[in-house]
Amino acid sequence: MKGLYTAVAAAAIFPAVLAKPSKTFNKRADTSVTGSLPTVTTKGNAFMAGDDRFYIRGVDYQPGGSSDLADPIADVDGCRRDVAKFQELGINTIRVYTIDNSADHDECMSMLDDAGIYLALDVNTPDYSINRADPHRSYNDVYLQNVFATVDKFVGYSNTLLFFSANEVINDNLTTNCAPYVKATTRDIKQYIHERGYRKVPVGYSAADVDSNRYEMASYMNCGSDDERSDFFAFNDYSWCDPSSFTQSGWDQKVEQYSNYSIPLFLSEFGCTTNTREFNEIASLYSDDMTPVYSGGLVYEYSNEDNGFGLVEITGSSVRELDDFSTLKDALAATEPPSGDGGARLDNPGPASECPAQSDVWDVEENTLPNLPEPAQRYFDDGAGDGPGLDGDGSQTAGTASESDSDIGSGGDSTSEEGEASTSTGAATSVRVPEFSVGVAPLVCAGMVLASSLFGAALV
Ligand SMILES: *[C@@H]1O[C@H](CO)[C@@H](O)[C@H](O)[C@H]1NC(C)=O
Ligand SMILES: *[C@@H]1O[C@H](CO)[C@@H](O)[C@H](O)[C@H]1NC(C)=O
Repeated sequence: MKGLYTAVAAAAIFPAVLAKPSKTFNKRADTSVTGSLPTVTTKGNAFMAGDDRFYIRGVDYQPGGSSDLADPIADVDGCRRDVAKFQELGINTIRVYTIDNSADHDECMSMLDDAGIYLALDVNTPDYSINRADPHRSYNDVYLQNVFATVDKFVGYSNTLLFFSANEVINDNLTTNCAPYVKATTRDIKQYIHERGYRKVPVGYSAADVDSNRYEMASYMNCGSDDERSDFFAFNDYSWCDPSSFTQSGWDQKVEQYSNYSIPLFLSEFGCTTNTREFNEIASLYSDDMTPVYSGGLVYEYSNEDNGFGLVEITGSSVRELDDFSTLKDALAATEPPSGDGGARLDNPGPASECPAQSDVWDVEENTLPNLPEPAQRYFDDGAGDGPGLDGDGSQTAGTASESDSDIGSGGDSTSEEGEASTSTGAATSVRVPEFSVGVAPLVCAGMVLASSLFGAALV
């Protein structure tokens, strides 16, 4: 009851404060940022580091392989061993797939920062992720707590480049029913970042190399209102197998097909090993054939594991360079991205995508999104608290699932009880409006606060 009184009184007396009314009563988030690298933002369909266009020139980093559940950047010695090699390679980004959100990362993040290297981070772990076999049940508050706790740990480093909200959840024609849960998670991370007052680390999905529904997924993640659209989209692509070319690989068609895509796009894994790798795709990826639409990519992968994609062989504290290491190093050294904006649509990226229609390869029946699982609301207000790390009990059957859906484009009822978008819908505008812009947010948040206060009161 007190909550209701307070909210109504605040609404009457301080209407201008309504944009973030709950902040008054919240535990404050630590919103400071450390590190020397400039933070990276998105602008139109590009990433920007300050005034300069930023291209991802990186490698995927998972020493031990995907079956070894380890956090490589919680391992200071391993990090020191490998950062020297990253520098030698001439990269500016690593992707880490598994993070222990109970561990300390200051030392490794600082070494990476000193070496001019950013982190692209997956916020899921095998036990805390959307389960393809039961996406509805696995999208719950315990899952989101782990995700948000990871965000808490990494937003404060200026070299945290981006968060992958999920990785390869949809991996064939039969798993597209998971897409609404991936999109909802993306929306929730963006809202969490907003509610906690953090810097806007870009959030998006990394799609599997599945030709049949890649474009649908890309469109889906970029349709609807701005608060639920991704900040970028990435996909894995092994279609360039040397000897090849821009046209032979089909990359020309992937430029044409995405030529109007309005958010940054990049390859989250590439580097086909069918034949000896020459890494000729580097010259193509960072040429103006590609840069109007793509912002670079990540070579799979740094260390050699059972599947044989490595650039180096790690044995304890020693690292041996394989042939692919120097091939990639030479290819990167020989390839400067175009100067200037590289043909990106910085100021006028075009409209949001249309949500894809249901089809044989896209089984999303109605364009609705699950709303935030109710108990997760408190993380927006109070912070997520400590993460369970890699030894937690897992989330896939834990907690409380989402109890309702709302239409795509409504922003979900976590931001608006009335189903209003938090800004103009992207589809109707030609320029992407920053979400939660001051002019619109007060209305939206007022509805939310009043509704949640009423709900709270009803429970008393
Ligand atoms: C997925 O659907 C497409 C189009 O119907 C088809 O060409 C492709 O073989 C299917 N892929 C799988 C793995 O079933
Ligand atoms: C991109 O947009 C232009 C202008 O609206 C349109 O003519 C063109 O067909 C679009 N291209 C693709 C690949 O959708």
